[in-house]
Amino acid sequence: MLRRKLVMFVLATCMFLSACHSSQKEDAMTSIRIGISLYRGDDTFINNIRSLVEEKAKEYERENGIKVILDIQDAKGNQNTQNNQVERFISLGCDVLCINPVDRMDASTIIDKAMTAGVPVVFFNRQPVEEDMNRWDQLYYIGVDAKETAILQGKMVVDLYQEQPQAVDLNGDGVVSYVLLEGETSHQDSLIRTQWSIQTLKNGGVPIEKITGGIANWERSQASALMEQWLLSYPDTIELVVSNNDDMALGAIDALERAQSTTKVNVIGIDGTTPGLEALESGKLLGTVSANKELYASAIVELAASCVLGEELPKEYPLTDEKYYWTPQEIIIHRIE
Ligand code: GAL
Repeated sequence: MLRRKLVMFVLATCMFLSACHSSQKEDAMTSIRIGISLYRGDDTFINNIRSLVEEKAKEYERENGIKVILDIQDAKGNQNTQNNQVERFISLGCDVLCINPVDRMDASTIIDKAMTAGVPVVFFNRQPVEEDMNRWDQLYYIGVDAKETAILQGKMVVDLYQEQPQAVDLNGDGVVSYVLLEGETSHQDSLIRTQWSIQTLKNGGVPIEKITGGIANWERSQASALMEQWLLSYPDTIELVVSNNDDMALGAIDALERAQSTTKVNVIGIDGTTPGLEALESGKLLGTVSANKELYASAIVELAASCVLGEELPKEYPLTDEKYYWTPQEIIIHRIE
């Protein structure tokens, strides 16, 4: 009798434990918790990506029946803040982290914490150094190829110059005088964008001559202050503003509008942000190079989810070296009639 009771007890216990286990497994399978930290929440391009990630997460939920919980934090340009956010994400049980590093040269603390906790990391927009990326097979990067961006930016002016030289050499003196607005010096994109954009203009036979240039750290207001100075120092000389991003291009346009100059100046940017495209529509911005932001954002969600579920990444997101996703991009130009 006692033996029968014991067998029944063991059976019941087993059934109870197995029910608990399967419901835990189901829980884990039916929701994914993603911790996202942005280097600066007030950056226009990053904000565009953030909104799209929120949209794509909802789409993923609808299509796959898996709840996607996003915890999005702003590191406000401080690497320590970001490291603390990563620690908090891990303690809250995030399944995967999507990190837009403040200091791309200093991703090692984040990687240490993630590796210890066994939580995969998808970095984006600010590329950690290769040595860091190679530390673990659960580290990924999503971004845009900077050299390709720059070549496209240069090409849009080369093509226009070949079609209508007077639309680029605005004063018809045989020289295109330009100023250059550069992003953060520590960002992998700034140097490469500058170098290859100018090289492409030269290779394409546009007779460019640099007047001056400056670093405006991707910021509209900093670029606007620089351009204001240049308009005073070099009146009626600037024909082209080459900017490493749209926000700084918009800053240059702000300064041009404030100066109420009647001399036309061509301004080109990169990013295809919402305000950038509006300026393009109205003809204030001549052109931009835009990454496919829909794909950029869905790659973040899909890659994060596939890491957690241990599933293959869909074919639309081919990875280079099994860790890098390079988002396709295109030229968008204001058509001059
Ligand atoms: C660049 C982008 C800039 C800025 C920067 C932030 O790729 O063109 O506008 O968002 O990233 O890291």
